[in-house]
Amino acid sequence: MKKISLFIAFMSMCALMVSASQAQTTAQPIVIKFSHVVATDTPKGKAAEYFKKLAEERTNGRVKVEVYANSALYKDKEEMEALQLGSVQMLAPSLAKFGPLGVKEFEVFDVPYILQDYEALHKVTTGPAGAKLLKLLEPKGILGLAYWDNGFKVMSANKPLKRPEDMRGLKVRIQSSKVLDAQMRALKAIPQVMAFSEVYQALQTGVVDGTENPPSNMYTQKMHEVQKYCTLTNHGYLGYAVIVNKKFWEGLPPDIRKILDQAMVEATEYNNEIAKKDNDDALAAIKASGRTEIYTPTEEERKAWIAALKPVHKEVEPRIGKEIINDFYKATGQQ
Ligand code: LMR
Repeated sequence: MKKISLFIAFMSMCALMVSASQAQTTAQPIVIKFSHVVATDTPKGKAAEYFKKLAEERTNGRVKVEVYANSALYKDKEEMEALQLGSVQMLAPSLAKFGPLGVKEFEVFDVPYILQDYEALHKVTTGPAGAKLLKLLEPKGILGLAYWDNGFKVMSANKPLKRPEDMRGLKVRIQSSKVLDAQMRALKAIPQVMAFSEVYQALQTGVVDGTENPPSNMYTQKMHEVQKYCTLTNHGYLGYAVIVNKKFWEGLPPDIRKILDQAMVEATEYNNEIAKKDNDDALAAIKASGRTEIYTPTEEERKAWIAALKPVHKEVEPRIGKEIINDFYKATGQQ
């Protein structure tokens, strides 16, 4: 008798396990739409794919990450709105694109020559200054998960740009940042805000004369095919914050969220390991293409670029806030 009831208990446990696993396999996966505007073959493009891989593998398919590269789903401005509306769950916009969202403090990253190199950048992004900025997103219903590196910008045009005076009168495409606007005006250029997806054509047709970008973006968008000259000014930094819809992220089952948080940590490490090399490789590929002449400023010319752009630090103080700028100076040892 005892044996029979043990057998029945065992069988019903098996039935329960089978139906639980069936429920799991038939349940709809949680879909994370991850939209971005660059090519897959860039640090951000590769890291987004890596996050997808880790997230899907480690949740055994309970999470599906759909990555939309190259503005395939949304362009710059639309994607921010889509995130707030919940039509997309994850983005990694350039730090220069948070102004229209009402978090203009991120434009501190655009201040020319505020970050000298990757070492200085990491002091900010892995320290309190970076954390403080991400916190500012929360009242907007957005969570900042990580900083993903890209690189330092070069100036390009169809005429040589050896000195800051060479920028005079040029129509230059910029991202939607008032600091970048001030930067171009300090050079007496005419800034034009434009979505990333439109830059190649605008350069090709002469709607704008030049632009600024890290080499990885320049190369993967083929901008070097329509820009004859580029100068290694390294005058500013372009990188990203990975952001999610707060309500969505906080509403995830805790076990899933833990896995995704860890996947993000690893995707971030991966991104930040490859960013510099990807940019060095892109620059080498631009050089090898023979389409764009790459110019390295002399020490005297470099000083002239710095002198022309340094006044922007003071000029943008009222917009960004003295405290935030000082946080950056402090983190990078400029004070
Ligand atoms: C740009 O618009 O130039 C960049 O922000 C694109 C990107 O995401 O790197």
